[in-house]
Amino acid sequence: MPLGGTMACEKPLAVVTCTAPVNIAVIKYWGKRDEELILPINSSLSVTLHQDQLKTTTTAAISKDFTEDRVWLNGREEDVGQPRLQACLQEIRRLARKRRNAWDGDPPPSSLSCKVHVASVNNFPTAAGLASSAAGYACLAYTLARVYGVESDLSEVARRGSGSACRSLYGGFVEWQMGEQTDGKDSVARQVAPESHWPELRVLILVVSAEKKLTGSTVGMQASVKTSPLLRFRAESVVPARMAEMTRCIQERDFRGFAQLTMQDSNQFHATCLDTFPPISYLSPISWRIIHLVHRFNTHHGDTKVAYTFDAGPNAVIFTLEDTMADFVAAVRHTFPPGSNGDTFLKGLQVRPAPLPAELKAALAMEPTPGGIKYIIATQVRPSTLWGFFSCQRGPPRLGPAPCPYRVSGRKPECLWLLCFIHLLSKEAAGHW
Ligand code: PMV
Repeated sequence: MPLGGTMACEKPLAVVTCTAPVNIAVIKYWGKRDEELILPINSSLSVTLHQDQLKTTTTAAISKDFTEDRVWLNGREEDVGQPRLQACLQEIRRLARKRRNAWDGDPPPSSLSCKVHVASVNNFPTAAGLASSAAGYACLAYTLARVYGVESDLSEVARRGSGSACRSLYGGFVEWQMGEQTDGKDSVARQVAPESHWPELRVLILVVSAEKKLTGSTVGMQASVKTSPLLRFRAESVVPARMAEMTRCIQERDFRGFAQLTMQDSNQFHATCLDTFPPISYLSPISWRIIHLVHRFNTHHGDTKVAYTFDAGPNAVIFTLEDTMADFVAAVRHTFPPGSNGDTFLKGLQVRPAPLPAELKAALAMEPTPGGIKYIIATQVRPSTLWGFFSCQRGPPRLGPAPCPYRVSGRKPECLWLLCFIHLLSKEAAGHW
């Protein structure tokens, strides 16, 4: 852990720890109309996943003794000068300044002049098409807001880090309205339905590859905006109606409609990638086998029981209902027999082992591809918990949820806590999967 020894004598003014979830878009965001403010060319809609399986944990500490801002990601120090990080930091400090200037009574203790140290870890592979940047920047925005005492809407701050991050600020089903204003003030995330709305909904993440993707979403989007006529058509003529239809499917818990639209929208997003010049391809041959598996499974049942969606990577996110989970996992195990990791192939929620019926096996008609899927994470939409959407804490950092006090001023925890915490986090990240 590359933390300087001088840390041991520094006393942070405040230490805050928060966690944030991953979200998976069912109507995809792809393309910006403003690169700096990160304003999208279309609205998008996503499902926020349970933090038990996928989450980012971030600790931020501010101190008068810190001489520079510093950031660690998964135990490695990162360049704090990265434009996205800088945009979030500057935006938070601007909001904190605005709040202090608007204060009537005694001004709150000034933390604005303090530098910040931030340590963040994911409990899942980073940058592998598992929306790590969404959880990461939502968590950064929220943690910085708590530590600098900012209480306004954080869509703008999270969005400046990674567009899709603003959707991770809410649980359940969330839309990111593209907005119309040039300053982006109306480009905000909003909950469409709470996490408790559809308790039977289940999510399986089929990890095909945990490697970093070849074309990052920023570069990919820029290329698509410049060269893909399909992308323009999609944004103007397809997405508005799909947003309305997807909202209806969610509100009415119409799984068939939800599943069909999710697959169609994923396919159109990947079609725009192929329409980009030079073309971008995120799907691998295994991704395609998963697509065929889902369609054959649905055809066999004479109904749409399972849906796939793919972000900027080969990993599939599967939506299904609780009563179909076990059968579909059996179909996946048959089609992609696990290697030596049979016992740990399925992580997350418990799924009852089910035999694969002979008729379904015949209907799948697929030669098994051993090791094609590395592992599965079974999860669900995050249910409401006692702790609210984020957990944060003051005082000695602890792993795990704690009530969110929203105020951190007045405490002077020893920075040794931060040191220990960062160390614990990096150990947790290294050992998790
Ligand atoms: O927020 P970014 O820049 O990581 O882009 C996310 C793009 C997709 O994951 C492909 C789609 C989406 O809406 O999340």
